[in-house]
Amino acid sequence: MPIPDSFLDELVSRTDIYDIISGYVRLTKRSGSNVFGLCPFHGEKTPSFSVNADKQLFYCFGCGKGGGAISFISEIENVPFRDAVEILARRAGMSVPESDADKELSEKRQRILQLNRVAARYFYETLSSPASQAAHRYITGRGISKAMVTRFGLGVAPDSWTLLLDAMSKKGFTRAELIEAGLAKPGKSEGGAYDVFRGRLMFPIIDTRGNVIGFSGRILGDGEPKYLNSPETIVFNKRRNLFALNIAKKTKSGMLILVEGNIDVIALHQAGFDNAVASLGTALTAEQAHLMSRHVSKVAIAYDTDESGRKAVLKAIPLLEKTGMSVKVLNMGASKDPDEYLKNNSADSFRLILEQSDNHIDYRLLTIYNSHNLTTDSGRLSYLSSATALLAELESAPEREVYGAKVASIAGVSPDAVNSEVNKKLAIKKARQKKDFERSVASPTATMQPGDRSLRYNNEYSAAAEEGVIRSLARDSALMKVASEMDFSETEFTSEFLAKVYRALAKRISDGRDTDAALLMVDLEKHEAAQLTVILQKPEAAPNSERTIREYIEKIRTERLKTLNPDEATLLEIKRKKEI
Ligand code: CTP
Ligand code: MN
Repeated sequence: MPIPDSFLDELVSRTDIYDIISGYVRLTKRSGSNVFGLCPFHGEKTPSFSVNADKQLFYCFGCGKGGGAISFISEIENVPFRDAVEILARRAGMSVPESDADKELSEKRQRILQLNRVAARYFYETLSSPASQAAHRYITGRGISKAMVTRFGLGVAPDSWTLLLDAMSKKGFTRAELIEAGLAKPGKSEGGAYDVFRGRLMFPIIDTRGNVIGFSGRILGDGEPKYLNSPETIVFNKRRNLFALNIAKKTKSGMLILVEGNIDVIALHQAGFDNAVASLGTALTAEQAHLMSRHVSKVAIAYDTDESGRKAVLKAIPLLEKTGMSVKVLNMGASKDPDEYLKNNSADSFRLILEQSDNHIDYRLLTIYNSHNLTTDSGRLSYLSSATALLAELESAPEREVYGAKVASIAGVSPDAVNSEVNKKLAIKKARQKKDFERSVASPTATMQPGDRSLRYNNEYSAAAEEGVIRSLARDSALMKVASEMDFSETEFTSEFLAKVYRALAKRISDGRDTDAALLMVDLEKHEAAQLTVILQKPEAAPNSERTIREYIEKIRTERLKTLNPDEATLLEIKRKKEI
């Protein structure tokens, strides 16, 4: 995987982030060394997305995304680090050297993909064998047509412990490869292994490039677990793929229908809806939403109508909306899912609910309505309070007016009363946004905690000083000598994330490489790069001074002293005295 550091350094130094980003975002407003534009990663009306050409960083004060040119490309093109590097390298007229490890991994991936393809064919062919009557009966029983079996490449895993293993080894695949692909598991006896999928209806999961990346296996009838899915492998990442997107992406409808179950997808395609996809048994992820938005501009959610399905809808809506797609939610009445709906109703009637269905605002208002008792005064008041809070979240004034009128009539109050309540909430929201924005631009120290929860600081006081150490060293690597004079070490960080940044910095410094901000980014994950961007942009009272870093280190130690037991505290005191 690793691309040589020297190559990345060269690439970053040949790349201008301002050029890159201007290709995607109109950068209009200037403020200090930052240029602002509308953030491409979340919907907004006033620009909070900034590019700093001096530091070669971008940062959105609205959604918290940030980093260098590589993170930007990776984020906006929804590609992994390596592909982003390739895109930038092409622009810069450079070609990414393939390390031996790279070659090995890409060969291994090819091999696993090939195995998956051969296995899918094996499952498909097994379905036609006389021994697969049970599977046949099951498929027929579920009303799945022959055409759908072919279109989705459905198959059956034989009810045996090693038939797949045997068949695949005849084709030249090793036991280790089957295990790596998630098709087999190592057995108890040395060198033994057994098939993971046994006696199941097999759904190959195919990515948009046509690779078989994994499988979903449904039990034939009742039993546990109902579905068994391939584990995450070097070719299969559940969060970044959707079942049937390889087929649905070709739709001419401009829309995708998002459902929960594989069987729902198949029932819909069979009824003529070529645009149904499912989210692989996980809650919808932001990556999946983004992936959908690359193919269509509209999405209709048709999740199961039970309690957990309704909850999942409310979680999916904001993720889908953020990508800029228009979102609606289907009302399937008493049917529990699209499969059942199509068993009881015609395809035309599904088409009708698809056309007539509520958009997500109606849907959310209905959810609020259902959770309040409107026959009492207090129930109506609390309904109004929740409903107007939702209305105040809407960006467009006409939407607020139309839905305001609906809410008013449901609650039995005048539209004016609703309006004034919404306006009040709107004003509060605007004031808060303005304050947040100013605070984050003017004095970033006020928002000490990282936006990303996984990076949260346990000790904010120490973390502030730890950030300072990093900022100092990134500005002037010569200051590392102060840190080593003070015997400062990575273990003194209270934040694991900051320790990691420090480690990367220290390594660069000791290797005699540049420590420009943009270069540091390449050592980090996306969310980490965003946070480092924030840290590096915080103003420094006295930049580049030896005293500043010394004070930061002192501060870290003072903070630590507060948390230590007496013995450790004494040791630390001794260490500090030695310095003075
Ligand atoms: N799922 C899973 N593991 C389970 C149950 C479900 O991975 N134990 C995933 C499968 O991808 C499944 C989806 O969640 O397709 C929806 O689950 P469910 O509604 O239970 O399955 P359906 O596909 O609708 O199947 P059926 O109609 O046969 O119940
Ligand atoms: Mn279902």
